[in-house]
Formats: sequence, structure tokens, C-alpha cells
Amino acid sequence: MGTAPIFPGENVCGIIGYIGNEDAAEILLDGLKRLEYRGYDSAGIATIDGEHISIKRIKGNIALLEKVLEEKPIYGKIGLGHTRWATHGQPSEENAHPHRDCTGTIVIVHNGIIENYLLLKEKLKKRGHRFKSETDTEIIAHLIEEYYHSGVVHRSCDDLEKAVRRALKKIEGSYALGIMSSREPDKLIATRNGSPLIIGLKDGNYFIASDVPAILRHTKDIIYLEDGELAILARTGVRLYGQNGKLIRLERRIKRISWDVNMAEKEGYPHFMLKEIHEQPRAIEDTILGRISPDGADIHLEEMALNKNKLKKINRIIITACGTSWHAGLIGEYLIEEIARIPVEVENAAEFRYRNPIITDDTLAIAISQSGETADTLGAIREVHQKKGRVISICNVVGSSVVRESDAVIYTHAGPEIGVASTKAFTTQLTVLYILAVYFGKIKGTLNAEQAKKMIADLRRLPQKTEEMLKQEKEVIKIANKFYRHRNAIYLGRGKGYPVALEGALKLKEVSYIHAEGYPAAEMKHGPIALIDKNMPVIVLALKGSRYDKILANIEEVKARGGVVIALATMGDRKIKEKVDEVLYVPETSIPLSPILAVIPLQLLAYYIAVKRKCNPDQPRHLAKSVTVE
Ligand code: F6R
Repeated sequence: MGTAPIFPGENVCGIIGYIGNEDAAEILLDGLKRLEYRGYDSAGIATIDGEHISIKRIKGNIALLEKVLEEKPIYGKIGLGHTRWATHGQPSEENAHPHRDCTGTIVIVHNGIIENYLLLKEKLKKRGHRFKSETDTEIIAHLIEEYYHSGVVHRSCDDLEKAVRRALKKIEGSYALGIMSSREPDKLIATRNGSPLIIGLKDGNYFIASDVPAILRHTKDIIYLEDGELAILARTGVRLYGQNGKLIRLERRIKRISWDVNMAEKEGYPHFMLKEIHEQPRAIEDTILGRISPDGADIHLEEMALNKNKLKKINRIIITACGTSWHAGLIGEYLIEEIARIPVEVENAAEFRYRNPIITDDTLAIAISQSGETADTLGAIREVHQKKGRVISICNVVGSSVVRESDAVIYTHAGPEIGVASTKAFTTQLTVLYILAVYFGKIKGTLNAEQAKKMIADLRRLPQKTEEMLKQEKEVIKIANKFYRHRNAIYLGRGKGYPVALEGALKLKEVSYIHAEGYPAAEMKHGPIALIDKNMPVIVLALKGSRYDKILANIEEVKARGGVVIALATMGDRKIKEKVDEVLYVPETSIPLSPILAVIPLQLLAYYIAVKRKCNPDQPRHLAKSVTVE
């Protein structure tokens, strides 16, 4: 039996660590300030002076932490700092990092998600460990303590290193870790698996960080740690060990960064939107992580907080949201109806809240929101509650208003989305909706064990497929360069491709100010076809699937009227090339997962067209990241 998968981890937080000849607190605080742009809800730093550990943590912003440190400074030339963006477990001082073991001698900061943490926590509790936070991170400190203080490791100058190595063997999940101990105050340990971590080097001063901007003021000489590597930072230098435990020659690995601070915040990308588009494989992976049982047969959604008997009785689902989140809901309708055979209605939240909707006992409402602060979505949740209905939300921000007002929440683990146009939030919302559909399918008995296993296996391959999709970027750029001068565009799709068409059109209009509309492909002949001429690019979702032939017929209709067609086709579909002007290929995946891949070239197309038109895609005119007014 697998371990219970809850998500108290954080995969998008900031880490900074320092060992050298300077005052650590100042360097750590500065590093955290430089990570502020990423978003966070709590922060903390720890230093070791002699053998004395000091920790300061706060819920709130770095300015508050700075104030606390001004009033009560902490000293030492080694330390760790962290900004936390909670993905589960409320933002609070107790949940903020750094965390410690029972003895208080081991200090750690962590980004990532420990999947088997509940199982480990239970075992550690039985062995007498006392926990002070709800985080998964704290178990790592206690696990190291087990080996560090129990005599399992023979006392020597590398006790901590050995204890860490033993603890890592027990941990499943993703992590970037900074670790130190007051018993060995001259070393900092850094290791990673699935979460980024870098080392910075500058003559007797060494740094670890989750992101380049945190240490760019001090050094441009960086080592990017790879999964399974472990580094020991001391004032005398850095030792780096490979996954096989063998020492690695540092010189080969040092990279000189040429970025300025502005570029570094975006990890070298010119805009947050592009960075976030490229983060999608990681974001999707994080959203999946821990929600699949180790044998790949089951979906775990403990966050649902509604028992399976109650869920079994649900006979109608209402999905409500705004903008891009609403488009995710429209795809959710296809997924849930197809897979779990529960009738679904999807409604824009602003409409839903004012039309006196009918909510019966067997109705479940699902609210979708990236920010968790959208006024109309909140209004819709309140409307459901007023009618004594239940709401689960799909949300990206822990502790947001939508989360607080919902009966249960399933988090997307997209990480902070800074670009105003939603990209990674959308694909992670779709990932959750797919998970939810399979979960309901199992409960309702519309999926047998074999079918569920196959769908879960498809899901597991999705991050890899997303990477493959992003490799088509150059083709998208070519098309953007050809079409950026047009003033209008039409997006057509059928089935799940229709909401993808809506989303593609929304992306284009909001970041490039080109007028774009999405339609169900068959609807075109009921009016929009009158717009077709050689100046009207028509982007058609023509992926292989049950309605492929019908979409080819729609393409013929456009071509017959002199229209210009850009098709999104399944990789390997050579036939379509003869029928259209341009093709963008999407890697093959199962039909229910195809919208997640298909939207990515449309996001990229909107982005590159906006850049060609000299628009700032990160801050489109008249738009705000969260719409807190009706
Ligand atoms: C479009 C976009 C908006 C949001 C909408 C809802 O790119 O970002 O349409 O999707 O304002 O916002 P959330 O999801 O925060 O409720």
C-alpha cells in the first residue's frame, strides 16, 4: 500500500545559504529580498555562531523579517534562509522554514514535495520525535537526527554528511535541500532531486540558492547541481559528489553567468510569460506528484474532504470560473462527462451568481481560480453556499479567499504566476480536472481498474510530452514572424478542441491586441464564414481523434473561400500538410490529455506575435493579475 499523498511541500519557494567570512544574516536577508519577485507568504533565516543557532521566522513579508532582525540581530558566518509560498499547510510562523529536529541542532530549508512524509512522520513519532509544524520538510530534519544522534553513524568529522546520505535514502519525492548543524558549524550541505539548486563560488565565500538572482550580487560563478548530487560547502572550498558518491572535479562544472539581475529573475528568459510557458512540464509534474499511488493504479485526493459515499451520490456538477479558468472548466466538462458520466454544466461565474441557479442535494459545484481572489468566482461560491450546496475549488494560491470559502480545495502546483496572461495555471488546472475525472470515474464505477491504470499511465507521461511539445518552439516563431501583422484571427476546434480554440484566441487578443475569436468549427458556417478571406488567418485544431474527418471538412470550407489555415496536427500526420498553409505538430497523447499539449503552441504563438508587435506580454494594457472587482 502506498503512503498517503498530501501536499505540504513547496516546490516554488526560495532558498539561500551562505558560508564564508562575512556576516551571514545580512547576505541571507539580501538574497531573500532578491527572490521576493517570485511571491511568498512567509520567510525565515537561521545562523550558527560558535555552536549557537539562532532562527527568526515570520509570516508576512521580508520587510517584517528585516525589522525583527534589526530589533534582535542574529550572528554567525554560516546560515540558511528561505521564502515559503505555501502549497499546503497554512502560511504561518510555525510552517515557515528553516526547520529543526528535536534537539534543535540540525537546521534545514527545503523546496519540493516529500511524497512519503506521512508514513515517515508516523514512524518518527513512534520513536519519540515531536513535530512543531504541518510541513513535510520537518520530517527530513528528524530523519537526519535519527542517524546523527543515535550512534548509527560513528562520530567523526563527517557525521552530518553520512546522516544526510542515510536519510535521503528513505525519502521519496522532490527536494532541494540546504542543511547545517551546530555540531559541525563549518559546513553547509546542499543536495537536490527534482528541484533546482545552485552553488555560487567566490574566494572563501560559498553560497547555495534556488535561483541565480539570490546570489548574483556576490558572484557570477555558478554550479548547477544535478539530481542526486551532494555538495559540502566549507570555508576552505566545495566538495561535490556525483550520484554514485564519487568526487566531481569542480572546474568542469563552473559556469560564468552573463545575466543582469533583471534577466536572472526570469532565469534568462526575456519575459515571465515565456518563462512560465517553459515551466509547464515541471508545474504539471508537481501537480501530479503524490496524487498517484506508487503502483499506478489509484488516484489519491485526500484534499477532497468529502467522503466517498457522499461523492458517490453526486449526480450533477456545476463548474464556475472566469477567463482562462473558465476555459479550463469547459474542457473539464468534456473530461468528467466522458470519463465519469456525471452531467456537468459550466458557467461563467459572473453570470452564474446572478441567475438564481438551481442547486440540489446531489449537486457539487467546482470553482476554478488561479489567484483565488476573483470577485465573480467568489460571488458564485457564496451563491452556492447560500443555496446550501457544496463547493470544491481548484486553486493555485494557498490561503486565498476562494480557498477559505470553499468546502475543500485541490491545489494546482503551478507556483506563482507572474505574467498577467495565465499559462501554466491553465495546464495545471486541466491536469487536476483530468485527475478528478479519473477519480470520479473510479468512484462511480464507470472506469474499471485496467482503464484507470491506463489513464494514469498516460498522465505520468504527460510532463515528458510537454517537454516534447516545447521543442516545436522554433516552428511557432516562424509562423509568428509570418503572421504578426494581421489584425484579426479565427480559432476553430471541435469537442475539447473548442475550448482550446477559445483559450488560444484569448491569449492572442490579450497580449498582442489582435482581434481574435474562437468558435466551434461547425458553427463557422452559421455566420463567421463571412469573414474568411486571404487576410484572415484561421487556426484550426486538427488533432487525430473521433472528429478528425469532420475537422478536415471544415478546413476545406475555409480553403475554398481563400482563407489561410494554420493547423495544429498530431505529430506524424503528413496528409494534412497538403491541405493547409502551415502546420504545427503536437506530440501524440491520449485524447483526454490532448488539450494540455495543444494549448502550448497557441500560448507560444500569442507570445511571439506580441513580442514582434512590441507589446509587453507580461503586462497587457488594462489588465490586472487578479480581478477583485465585479
Ligand atoms: C487570461 C487570464 C484571465 C484569468 C481570469 C480568472 O490570461 O489570466 O482571464 O483567467 O481573470 O482569474 P483567476 O483564475 O485568478 O480566477
